[in-house]
Amino acid sequence: MNPALGWGTTTFLLLLAAVVCHGHVERQEQWEEVPQLGESRFGSLWPLPQNVVISPVAFMLRSSSFQIVHSAESSAGPGCSILQSAFRRYFEYMFGYTKNQGGNTKKGQDSEVTELQVWITSADSECDAYPSVTSDESYELTVDQPTAVLKAAKVWGALRGLETFSQLVYEDQYGAKKINKTDVQDFPRFAHRGLLLDSSRHFLPVKVILANLEAMAMNKYNVFHWHIVDDNSFPYESTVFPDLSRKGAYHPYTHIYTPTDVKMVIEFARMRGIRVISEFDTPGHTQSWGKGQMDLLTSCYSGENPTGSFGPVNPILNSTYDFMAKFFKEVSLVFPDTYIHLGGDEVDFTCWKSNPDIQAFMQEHGFDKDFKKLESYYIQKLLDIVGSTKKGYMIWQEVFDNGVKLKPDTVVEVWMGSNYQEELQNVTAAGFSTILSAPWYLDYISYGQDWQRYYKVEPLAFKGTDAQKKLVIGGEACLWGEYVDATNLTPRLWPRASAVAERLWSNQNVTDVGDAYNRLTQHRCRMVARGIPAEPLFVGYCDQEYKGL
Ligand SMILES: *[C@@H]1O[C@H](CO)[C@@H](O)[C@H](O)[C@H]1NC(C)=O
Ligand SMILES: *[C@@H]1O[C@H](CO)[C@@H](O)[C@H](O)[C@H]1NC(C)=O
Ligand SMILES: *[C@@H]1O[C@H](CO)[C@@H](O)[C@H](O)[C@H]1NC(C)=O
Ligand SMILES: *[C@@H]1O[C@H](CO)[C@@H](O)[C@H](O)[C@H]1NC(C)=O
Repeated sequence: MNPALGWGTTTFLLLLAAVVCHGHVERQEQWEEVPQLGESRFGSLWPLPQNVVISPVAFMLRSSSFQIVHSAESSAGPGCSILQSAFRRYFEYMFGYTKNQGGNTKKGQDSEVTELQVWITSADSECDAYPSVTSDESYELTVDQPTAVLKAAKVWGALRGLETFSQLVYEDQYGAKKINKTDVQDFPRFAHRGLLLDSSRHFLPVKVILANLEAMAMNKYNVFHWHIVDDNSFPYESTVFPDLSRKGAYHPYTHIYTPTDVKMVIEFARMRGIRVISEFDTPGHTQSWGKGQMDLLTSCYSGENPTGSFGPVNPILNSTYDFMAKFFKEVSLVFPDTYIHLGGDEVDFTCWKSNPDIQAFMQEHGFDKDFKKLESYYIQKLLDIVGSTKKGYMIWQEVFDNGVKLKPDTVVEVWMGSNYQEELQNVTAAGFSTILSAPWYLDYISYGQDWQRYYKVEPLAFKGTDAQKKLVIGGEACLWGEYVDATNLTPRLWPRASAVAERLWSNQNVTDVGDAYNRLTQHRCRMVARGIPAEPLFVGYCDQEYKGL
């Protein structure tokens, strides 16, 4: 999944060298805008709501008198744990991390907001459900005194609205909490706003995953794409095939995700309106699978003799499909989301080509020397297996490119850097839903404000009809794990992934980089205040600096 082409043009690299040698931050102006820090008329809101009017009328907000409550008309009440825990969480975000609670300011001098009423308007609040691609995340927020009202059809919109409300709170020059009179009507531009983390190249402790789910909620992300296993390690503990992690994980006890861990991640995500889509990538990227499952991988040959090394999954054995059927049956029960990501990228044909049994199989099936046909043969059978579990599937773009027959509800993930616009055009012309990740590979790092590059991407800037554009259901920021573990994951991700979050949530016309800079600088400090070590955009400071763990 690593694009051959990065953004590194020659000019870019030369300037980069100059910057590194001289250490003059000013040099970056030559290749990137460095906006002047100022005030946005949208305060510190991130991502920017679809419609928002903030009035220059400020109200007090005091921890001693303020509360978040269910409105009397709401279809959700104290029995709704998603809302109850969100109320607690957001109260703490607003008041919990500062010593000055604003309690010593004179009462009655300013008007005050004493209550946020949360009103779920539809009969089914979906409190006990899992979020899905069709979940309603819209909400309306009116901040007035003494009562602010947050209206949403479902709990998912209420979660987004609570985040927005918390972002409207600020401290005045005396350290007192304030919120302005404000009206918001909001909904996401795209339904699928995902973040990919890779727990195979390096093991990511559950704590780090949870912290990033927390940060995702602060940015209104709603999909955690969990690239849970790959060549390097198999940390997923399967109950049906326990040898997979026993032999394929970096360590069989300390570097695995137990069924309890996985449940915890899924529930923590659900409480924040985030789907967990697991990816079990085959037939390539499977070296670690082979350690715990005999005969699953293809034996590579040198001439007549096996070399002792292994290639992709062996597509010519019935046992392979028996294994896959059992394995994906389990996966489909463990992960409640209606989609599973089946990978299907970057299959290296060298080993298949070397294996005499595979050569014979190719002859028998009339594939000639076209190994794409063999790959398609495998994927086809896998898709049928997973399709029979009633799950939908997502796949990387190669599966589509190779002409595999796909179910109409398949989601194709476009990741290849070169010419992704044309790929979007092709995938949608064939009638498939698609998500875009090609321009958002955050594992590629560089000097300066690269968030602007992610921010400036317009996902629908490709040739196609309106119907085709509607098939783009969103996108994903990807942080592959080759050079990333628990030590550097969070600062490398935030606030760079925030740029993608705004592109996927806000109106298409929200493109002012200067305004974004002002808001994002504050949003980054807010993440820091909430305990997320998000890296700085540029020179400056936060009122509350990161205090360490
Ligand atoms: C909030 O109100 C204050 C006081 O009138 C005003 O100075 C400030 O600009 C307002 N904030 C925004 C984002 O409009
Ligand atoms: C594999 O399965 C196919 C179809 O069910 C069957 O025709 C074939 O005999 C099986 N091969 C072996 C080696 O069992
Ligand atoms: C899109 O489809 C056209 C026509 O089949 C093909 O020539 C082109 O290479 C495809 N583009 C990509 C990026 O795969
Ligand atoms: C963006 O579009 C919305 C609705 O189409 C409009 O209300 C808003 O004023 C526009 N914003 C900008 C910055 O052009």
